[in-house]
Amino acid sequence: MRPKRLNLLTALAAILLILPASKASEPDVSTPDALKIDRGRLILETGSFLAPAWNSTAWKTVVETARPVPVDGDPKTAEPMDAADNARMRFGLHPAPFPNGDLPMGLRPAWSKDGRKAGLQIDCLICHGGSIGGQSYVGLGNTTLDFQQFLNAMTRADSRRPPLLTFNLNSGRGTVNAGQLAIVLFSLRNPDLSLRQFPLNLGANLPEQDVPAWWTLKKKSTLYLDARTDGDSARSIMQFYLGELSENQFSAYEPAFADLLAYVKSLEAPKYPFPVDESKALAGKAVFEKNCSECHGTYGPDGTYPDLLVPLNRIGTDRARAEGVSGRSIDHYNATWFGQVHPVDKSLEPGYKAPPLDGVWATAPYLHNGSVPTLYALLKSDARPDRFLRQPSTSFEHYDRQNVGWKVRIPESVPEKPSGDPFLSRSLFDSSRYGLGNKGHTFGDKLSESERMAVIEYLKTL
Ligand code: HEC
Ligand code: HEC
Repeated sequence: MRPKRLNLLTALAAILLILPASKASEPDVSTPDALKIDRGRLILETGSFLAPAWNSTAWKTVVETARPVPVDGDPKTAEPMDAADNARMRFGLHPAPFPNGDLPMGLRPAWSKDGRKAGLQIDCLICHGGSIGGQSYVGLGNTTLDFQQFLNAMTRADSRRPPLLTFNLNSGRGTVNAGQLAIVLFSLRNPDLSLRQFPLNLGANLPEQDVPAWWTLKKKSTLYLDARTDGDSARSIMQFYLGELSENQFSAYEPAFADLLAYVKSLEAPKYPFPVDESKALAGKAVFEKNCSECHGTYGPDGTYPDLLVPLNRIGTDRARAEGVSGRSIDHYNATWFGQVHPVDKSLEPGYKAPPLDGVWATAPYLHNGSVPTLYALLKSDARPDRFLRQPSTSFEHYDRQNVGWKVRIPESVPEKPSGDPFLSRSLFDSSRYGLGNKGHTFGDKLSESERMAVIEYLKTL
């Protein structure tokens, strides 16, 4: 324990929270956006809102005890590597691109309410921080995370038994059921946010999903795939804190989350790091504008974004995310503090918002459930594997520059032999699982092979 340092950090966290909170009643229009954005960045990188979930030593224990990752898929050929690298790889975590002590991105110090007991807690970046080619990015969805295995390992490191969940958090690496997690937290609150002893039956059944890139949010008027939540709803991004916070705390922290949202909307997509065939990309731009811009917009200095919700029947992708949300769960959300300013829109037809494609080279696998490993397969639906094994990391050795996305291995037997090591068995993406269907979005099927390759070349430049 280093009490002095902890007190200082606690004080800093408190200042960060009080600073914006004091301006809650009247939004300060004279505050330069840059200041807001910078406060949002600080809150995201250092703010601590929840009590510790684990002891301060839990991650260190995980590092010391994690089994070696079978890098090339064979448990016998595990390569020796640095213990921290091994633990990060096993659970799909990434080094933080900002100072974060010895902790991976997504884990941070936390303190009990009275500030006396220090420990660890997760933050937004466990899901919303990723890496590609050895470079970490805030806002790149984490496509390697095995959330359930990670939580279990941390809890065991504290010599506690992992709790049993009433729903599937994730059936494999890379997808995560953030939606149903939020529903469960809401079911344990009354409309006035007081805690319930027994959960409400909200009737929703949301599936696990791929985490979207944050840098596309600035173009969208709404949050989330189903387009039902206003894009300025800071309250909506506070849902995970329902595990602990009271309505008063939510109100006090709201301005901090408005700043955090401003920071999210300031993020830019990383540029494609390999050479691009300019003339092919130019030809692809024309094909794109003819076949894709209606939904995905145009790019460059005077780019446009149509902000379209595409009904399920037209898009044809997996229906579970759109249909798994229930009228009852929306009504309940809207009856609480969360829905007061920006109620969730119940009237919309179920569908998915066509996302902006900025930085799409970095966000494979594709579609909202990560069911399609490359852009090529996205634009040629019969080339999509129904089952594939994810790569152990997001290193460029696994990157497919030709088809743009991840080189995946196709498991030989169906079902794949259950392996003793969950790292391998949980690398399997199986499109027959709930919510993970890989059908639909067939707009690329009618393109000729050369048109398709040209569009892919163009997509590298966005
Ligand atoms: C357990 C993983 C997880 C955690 C933790 C998490 N998110 Fe998310 N987030 C998701 C997933 C999955 C989606 C996609 C949901 C959808 O569209 O249905 C998402 C969507 C979003 C979006 C909307 C993006 C868009 O393009 O519409 C925002 C903004 C966001 N999250 C902010 C946050 C913030 C802020 C935090 C921390 C307070 C956070 N998230 C914590 C998984 C997570
Ligand atoms: C009718 C509207 C529409 C048209 C036309 C369309 N798309 Fe899409 N596109 C969508 C929607 C909606 C999604 C999200 C679907 C989902 O995730 O289930 C999507 C998803 C994508 C994605 C995946 C994004 C990600 O991060 O996972 C890519 C890439 C893409 N489209 C490219 C294209 C290209 C290239 C074309 C033209 C050949 C095209 N789209 C035509 C509506 C459209």
